[in-house]
Amino acid sequence: MKHLCSLLCFLLLALPALSKERTIKPGVLWPDAAGNHINAHGGGVLFYKGYYYWYGEHKAEHTSAALVGVTCYRSKDLVNWTCCGVALPVEEQVGSDIEKGCTMERPKVVYCARTGKFVMWFHLELKGHGYAAARAAVAVADKPTGPFLYLRSGRVNPYCWPADWTEADHACADTLQAAHFGRWWTEPWRRAITQGLFVKRDFSGGQMARDMTLYVDDDGRAYHIFSSEDNLTLQVAELSDDFTYHTGRYWRIAPGGQNEAPALFKHEGRYWLITSGCTGWAPNEARMFTAERISGPWKQLPSPCSGPNAKLTFGGQSTYVLPVQGRPGAFIFMADIWRPQHPIDARYVWLPITFKDNVPVVEWRDEWAPADFFR
Ligand code: DGJ
Repeated sequence: MKHLCSLLCFLLLALPALSKERTIKPGVLWPDAAGNHINAHGGGVLFYKGYYYWYGEHKAEHTSAALVGVTCYRSKDLVNWTCCGVALPVEEQVGSDIEKGCTMERPKVVYCARTGKFVMWFHLELKGHGYAAARAAVAVADKPTGPFLYLRSGRVNPYCWPADWTEADHACADTLQAAHFGRWWTEPWRRAITQGLFVKRDFSGGQMARDMTLYVDDDGRAYHIFSSEDNLTLQVAELSDDFTYHTGRYWRIAPGGQNEAPALFKHEGRYWLITSGCTGWAPNEARMFTAERISGPWKQLPSPCSGPNAKLTFGGQSTYVLPVQGRPGAFIFMADIWRPQHPIDARYVWLPITFKDNVPVVEWRDEWAPADFFR
């Protein structure tokens, strides 16, 4: 009888642990603790007090418009995730920036040690206006799971020129007139874009901000990295001490290079940036850039992806690079396989980053266990 009791106790304690998944299977349905496919697309992950928090776009069955808001999931092991609900809900109020039916994309959350607040930025498009608004939006919370308080949205850094522009750059931009370039994609137009034609066009209204990520550097300074200038150029913009404003200091990355989906990380003092090209929801080949300083200069390298379908980023588009807690040099590349006809069914590609000759490599794996990989 005593043995039977011990066996029952053992089974009761061990079964939940045994039923836990050990592996990540890129591209297949990823059930949360309740058995529902995780609904946190275009997301990012924050580590806080023993837990990883995964924030992402809630996608509906038949529309990519935001009907619910930004969701949050929690995990200790990066494999088994529990839904913590909606961290930032859409609002019912007609005319609200985040009115139900708007577009809320690529939310990222960082913790601001100075204020003790969790700060979320995301790409916002106003309901009924397609992708014309190109705004950055910000919300704050006292707890990682929210509720987040929506603060405001807008274009970025009005009346500010790139921080590294020289007198010659300013003189060159002075000569540029958007009206002189009726036709896009010509050689003179491309040159003018590189020289800041759209920076100047948006000088008073603020720079456009679409696909985005956040990065908090070792010195506690936070940066917002986003596709700007009609998705032609990435910008990296410094955030204020409380992470909820832009300081006005920003730099351009790959002018005219048409990069989306930025994911930034730092390894042994060097910054790495993985991006995609601009092909809507369809996958394309990832790009990679590196720099010694976040302000650049950035140098482009070949895609880090290798293995089957690497030319199309395994069918996905980058969204974040997750630093594994307590394992310096351990990173996970996160990407989305979009399903625009059935958005809720979009899939996740999470793969470990390895380094070959100190250069990041993302190799396809059908299945892998973070606990084994990052021993
Ligand atoms: C590609 C972007 O990376 C996505 O976040 C989304 O904005 C789609 N374009 C919309 O076509």
